[in-house]
Amino acid sequence: MRFFVERLALVAGIASAQGIQCTDGLKMFLARGTTEPLGTGLMTTITRQIEQLIPGSTTDDIPYPATLFEPTYFVSVLNGSTLLQEAVSEYAAACPDGKMALMGYSQGAQVVGNAICGAGYAWSAGTILPLIPGAPPITEPLPLTFPPLPTNVTENVVAVIFFGDPTRQPGASWNRGSASPKNRGGFNRDDSIIQYCERYGPRMRSYCDDGDSVCDDGTVSRPEPHISYVQNYGDEVVEHLVAQYNSH
Ligand SMILES: *[C@@H]1O[C@H](CO)[C@@H](O)[C@H](O)[C@H]1NC(C)=O
Ligand SMILES: *[C@@H]1O[C@H](CO)[C@@H](O)[C@H](O)[C@H]1NC(C)=O
Repeated sequence: MRFFVERLALVAGIASAQGIQCTDGLKMFLARGTTEPLGTGLMTTITRQIEQLIPGSTTDDIPYPATLFEPTYFVSVLNGSTLLQEAVSEYAAACPDGKMALMGYSQGAQVVGNAICGAGYAWSAGTILPLIPGAPPITEPLPLTFPPLPTNVTENVVAVIFFGDPTRQPGASWNRGSASPKNRGGFNRDDSIIQYCERYGPRMRSYCDDGDSVCDDGTVSRPEPHISYVQNYGDEVVEHLVAQYNSH
């Protein structure tokens, strides 16, 4: 069966002029968390299941640094956000019928959020430097704002999933998990940006559990919640991805 599905994926792929493979299945773009080695990391079981359930589905992980230092977190996030925007824009242009899903874990969730919602105040060096104790000074110039992907490019983005998002917005309709709806991530987006996230409505889900201080600011930090999202919500995310794929 697995062999058959892989063969099918090869046959279904249509190479575009830019060398982009359009797939009949779901194209998943993933951004891993801080210090995870290149690859699909903690989200691997989800992508494997989707590749089985939706024949022809393929996964691209964004090859960004995912570092805390060297380069500094926000430089790494900017790199990933830019690479992801390029990947989605190129895929949308080459494959007008190609359905996409974007998933990000921890720092990767911020990367995905920046790419689709844009980013505002958190880029200002004066604001961000005190947020990471021990961070070396940022020498690379960072833009003060980062514009979101235009809607003509994201029409076929059928799902957006965040796990342990540092930019989690309090009270957002897409929040899931046991964290208090009133709590926010340490780098939550400002109100001028949130309208761009709102365009995604039910396509978007952000998982955050009680005690994960990355997305659930103000709580006592425990390590388990931040690394357990796929274990706890993987099946429900797979269901969401399949339903979104089928209904678009
Ligand atoms: C992004 O980071 C990768 C390494 O992770 C590097 O090869 C690439 O040059 C960086 N790109 C930009 C635009 O900074
Ligand atoms: C989206 O619109 C921009 C600006 O009008 C254009 O350059 C780009 O090719 C469009 N992309 C797609 C996928 O339609």
